[in-house]
Amino acid sequence: MDFKNKTAALIAAADDALKKEEIEAMIEIPADNKMGDFAFPCFRLAKTMKKAPNLIAEELAQKIEKSDFIESINVVNAYINFFISKEFLMKSVIEEIKEKKEAYGRCNIGKGKNIVLDYSSPNIAKPFHVGHLRSTVIGNALYNIFNAVGYNSVGINHLGDWGTQFGKLIVAYKKWGDKEVIERDDIKELSRIYVKFHEEAQNDESLNDEARSWLVKMQEGDKEALELWKWFCDLSMKEFNRIYKRLGIKFDSYAGESFYNDKMQAVVDELKDKNLLTESEGAQIVNLEKYNMPPCLILRSDGGTLYPTRDISAAIYRKKTYDFDKCLYITALDQNLHFAQWFKVIELMGYDWAKDLVHIPFGLVSLGDGKLSTREGRVVLMEDILNSSVEKTLNIIEEKNPNLKNKQQTAEQVGIGAVIFNDLYNSRIKNVVFDLERMLSFEGETGPYVQYTHARACSILKKENVSEIDFDIDYSKITDEASVNVCKLLSQFGDKIIDAANKYEPYIVTRHLVDICQAFNKFYNENNIKLSEGDLKNARIAVVYAVKTVISAGLKLIGVSAPAQM
Ligand code: ARG
Repeated sequence: MDFKNKTAALIAAADDALKKEEIEAMIEIPADNKMGDFAFPCFRLAKTMKKAPNLIAEELAQKIEKSDFIESINVVNAYINFFISKEFLMKSVIEEIKEKKEAYGRCNIGKGKNIVLDYSSPNIAKPFHVGHLRSTVIGNALYNIFNAVGYNSVGINHLGDWGTQFGKLIVAYKKWGDKEVIERDDIKELSRIYVKFHEEAQNDESLNDEARSWLVKMQEGDKEALELWKWFCDLSMKEFNRIYKRLGIKFDSYAGESFYNDKMQAVVDELKDKNLLTESEGAQIVNLEKYNMPPCLILRSDGGTLYPTRDISAAIYRKKTYDFDKCLYITALDQNLHFAQWFKVIELMGYDWAKDLVHIPFGLVSLGDGKLSTREGRVVLMEDILNSSVEKTLNIIEEKNPNLKNKQQTAEQVGIGAVIFNDLYNSRIKNVVFDLERMLSFEGETGPYVQYTHARACSILKKENVSEIDFDIDYSKITDEASVNVCKLLSQFGDKIIDAANKYEPYIVTRHLVDICQAFNKFYNENNIKLSEGDLKNARIAVVYAVKTVISAGLKLIGVSAPAQM
């Protein structure tokens, strides 16, 4: 039940001049709940009603008809404060969770609409580094969040499987590569010779020429070049898939950059027909001077296509294939200009859906020593991070709960969950710092803390032999502050998911989970379940069940597992 919406309806019914939607947008949730559950500020009405705001509040409050879910209404200055009936709140929240279980909080506002999400998108033959982690986990969380509000999410891994790096890699392989070593160490070895190429090329320009000619061969369909390319791709995918499996992530499509090789000529022709291409130093560009941006490069002087050419072709293909309502691109913010440029090109091509292309930028990852790059070799591999997080978690489990069954599996769920949670705890644009010590703490605002709270709720239910709420509840027993506070947070869960979708910000869900856990732990400390009896005990167990269900659903939304024991 949406109390905010219901409250707005009551206010709207009191005065013909007020529209429910507008009221709902104006309603605030007071920071101090002594001021009520909802507050309606009357300042903005002063202009149209030509009265002092506090007078408006006074008069309007008189006219509002109290409904059974309202306990009381009072006026403080220009605010009308609404207090929801505690019993009513507890009942409606818990009954709904009891019925919908983990589907609680989901809605249908995106029904019938497709949303395309382009995320992860690592580059073949380069290591999957921590920078790609962010795109992967943010993208996956948004994928789930949009599904939860009714959209049909389409997840695309736009693999970087074409471009200059392959020419370089072929040269490097021919000069310094060893097939057996590569088969064994796969991407680590590929990355080593790739780095070596850049070191050597600094003193030997001819290496770059050689690399370019291999790229041309690839484009012309040369058998040897394409076989090597395919081999590099397969090796990389093996590694990427290993990581995706551990992260529990799947994609609906792996159509990478090479997928558009045979679709780009048509796009180049279209740009030409629409008089958008101009020549500049032998290259074909779209001039964006008017929009205060450097030109968007479409064709190199040797006829080779570029990153933007592939993105433009991909967008047109996606619009045709998925008829998306929105197409999201989740990458680091250093690609801001790239997206701004080619979004503009799509607009200039006359496609009104250019407005539905959205770049979702995020900040950097740091280990305390600045940005990470493949070229200079200062790479931190994703897998190493996951491994050390899992290993550390295993040590903690050995220490705290040595008798736990499935220690290894739990360590994997908690260790990896901690990494994902840490990434999604702040607004995307903020930089993320990898500090394993803090990320794995069971106290702070961490993944393990939320997972542990969930496991604690599971263990209470297990002790009481409750797997579902199939008994009647006397809601008058649980109107104490701690119980009401935690259920109030549960009642906001659906709104938080919508808010997260509207702002493309998974942290809104993540933080809400921490709030629920804190309120639950307070509830747990203040309400002794073991010592309570009868209706009181049953009602408290129902609260535990409701909290467990919502935490589990919330963790799954952000891509973190919810083990029952840890
Ligand atoms: N492969 C690129 C990189 O690693 C990211 C691709 C993002 N998606 C896109 N459609 N441009 O930087």
